[in-house]
Amino acid sequence: MPRKIVVTSALPYANGPIHIGHLVEYLQTDIWVRFQKMCGNQCLYFCADDTHGTPVMISARAQSITPEELIQRMYKEHEADFDEFHIEFDNYYTTHSPENKHFSEWIFNSLNEAGSIAKRNVEQAYCENCKMSLPDRYIRGTCPRCKAEDQYGDSCEICSGTHRPTDLINPYCATCRGKPTVRTSEHYFFKLADYQQQLKDLIAAGYTQKSVANKLDEWFKAGLKDWDISRDGPYFGFKIPGEENKFFYVWLDAPIGYMASAKNYCDKNSLNFDKLWNSDEYELYHFIGKDIMYFHALFWPAMLIGSGFKTANKLFVHGFLTVNGEKMSKSRGTFIKASTYLKHLDPEYLRYYYASKLTDNIDDIDLSTEDFINRINSNLVGKLANLASRSGPMLTKNLDSRLGRLDEQGKDLLNKLMAEKAQLTQDYENLKFSAVVRTIAALADQANRYVEQNQPWATIKTDLEKTRTTLTAVINASRILTIYLKPILPKYAERVERFLNVGKLKFADTETVLENHKINEYERLAERIDEKQVNAMIEESKESQSPGPQTAGPAEPIAPECTIEDFAKIDLRIAKVTKAETVEGADKLLRLQLDVGGLQKSCMAAIAKAYKPEELTDKIVVYLANLKPRQIRFGLSEGMILAAGTGGKDIFMLSADTGAKPGQRVS
Ligand code: MSP
Ligand code: ZN
Repeated sequence: MPRKIVVTSALPYANGPIHIGHLVEYLQTDIWVRFQKMCGNQCLYFCADDTHGTPVMISARAQSITPEELIQRMYKEHEADFDEFHIEFDNYYTTHSPENKHFSEWIFNSLNEAGSIAKRNVEQAYCENCKMSLPDRYIRGTCPRCKAEDQYGDSCEICSGTHRPTDLINPYCATCRGKPTVRTSEHYFFKLADYQQQLKDLIAAGYTQKSVANKLDEWFKAGLKDWDISRDGPYFGFKIPGEENKFFYVWLDAPIGYMASAKNYCDKNSLNFDKLWNSDEYELYHFIGKDIMYFHALFWPAMLIGSGFKTANKLFVHGFLTVNGEKMSKSRGTFIKASTYLKHLDPEYLRYYYASKLTDNIDDIDLSTEDFINRINSNLVGKLANLASRSGPMLTKNLDSRLGRLDEQGKDLLNKLMAEKAQLTQDYENLKFSAVVRTIAALADQANRYVEQNQPWATIKTDLEKTRTTLTAVINASRILTIYLKPILPKYAERVERFLNVGKLKFADTETVLENHKINEYERLAERIDEKQVNAMIEESKESQSPGPQTAGPAEPIAPECTIEDFAKIDLRIAKVTKAETVEGADKLLRLQLDVGGLQKSCMAAIAKAYKPEELTDKIVVYLANLKPRQIRFGLSEGMILAAGTGGKDIFMLSADTGAKPGQRVS
């Protein structure tokens, strides 16, 4: 009996383009779905744009368009990107839909009736200037714990502590820099803790991978807190039933978007939604990244349980993409948009590369550009495509395009290839794609060895029929490997199908062979990557950083002006670093001992990501000497050294000419 399976990927935010980080997820899911379909299972893949929330509202304002216009534009872009990467959704929908509104209200009302919704007052930051409440990320200020300036409303990048936005010292609105006021407003809360036991049972029954379950354990130990599910207007989202100016928080209606997409599909295809979404007849799987585990392993199943829906059979969580060992970065040109990638490289190269790195665990996966080029050139082009390109043209040119019969040695080779099917099937099913790719490459090695042993390029001059027998085996080997690869490389497989003159290849086809069969003209299956293409893509990604295409001026507004008198108060001196050391508990900070013309000073600098302590000793730097000393959690900081840059590794210290003497005034 074929299985019936419903699959979802997390819904990408409608406020930005698809990038190669997102693609880890959509490619992982797409490969799995294609695999299920090739096994003859009925598998439906649903997704949608996640359209609501403050970022969409603000971004639309900045472009002087309505949020509806913005999300429509993004929808088209997202759809085109997915299509080009051959990500085949059965339905790609939007959370800004009547179905989603219906289900959101329905689930909210059910939870309310079940007694799982509480109402209480909260204090929240409000910007009179922007006329809106400020979400945590839109309010900045000084960290209440370590006193670092310019930190987000929810967490500090310097001491990694979390806090409430109302705890910030000198808070300001990230959009207009105005001082926020505090307003009291009544909010709705979902009482997550009511579902603690059911959630624990779900996870004990294998809802997630082990490593995810461990993380969840920590959260259970910390205690499940009520979840604020409402936001005050203006807000782009669905109104809460019975309220005039309160809306569902975007994360309430976002996962419900999975159901809405499924419902929309069912209606278009005359399928019974209740059966598809809520019966045991269909299995249900969610694919997500590890940053949104809390929502999918706690809130979402609790919402479903509380409103009488079934939960997914499994939540598959993947790690994050790094490029050349580091977080994607706009300044390094590794924040690569899907559309930029497509201008330079074949999408199937990324599909193949990600597959070769993906496992069933939540470790981050690294795209090393050098490794990427190597793997495509040596494995995909050199081993796999090579098998067909060595045999196809020879058959067409000299042997009137006709396959003959296999001999014992040929059958032997094919048996070895077929014998791996069970293992490969298991590895695909269990998301061990890197094992799949490794196995296929090893099988291609065997097939290439067979070619070396039988030397068709030599026998073609002496024994045509012997050559036909050899090439029949090689073509069949190439066909079996293509079937194994097809979930990863659907277009490559289509080219092979055309060239072999066969119908759509399925997993079951690995059990048969092609003999006495006429093939078509060979077409090239894959080209080598030139390093230049990758470099050009990275260069172009460097250019496309902020300011974004829609807004004029820098993404972060210029601060209120300061006068020349203000500036004249600053006393800059030459200082010599006598000692530099790391600061425990703050991985971005270094503690510096400075000699300022005989005066000993100590200051903290957030430059640990850019400089090693030993690089700094004896360095001559420019020092802001009359800054009021500040006591921060990690000690007293007197003055500051001058450094500039966009952050992380891109911080350049202003170091003075070595002729300058510590203590000298700088002007
Ligand atoms: N809109 C939410 C999801 C709502 S689901 C009901 C969201 N959107 S997102 O656009 O930020 O991310 C979409 C998916 O892509 C998430 O699963 C996220 O983990 C994944 N990724 C985004 N950036 C990624 C990397 N750099 N690396 C790997 N996956 C990444 O979260
Ligand atoms: Zn403001």
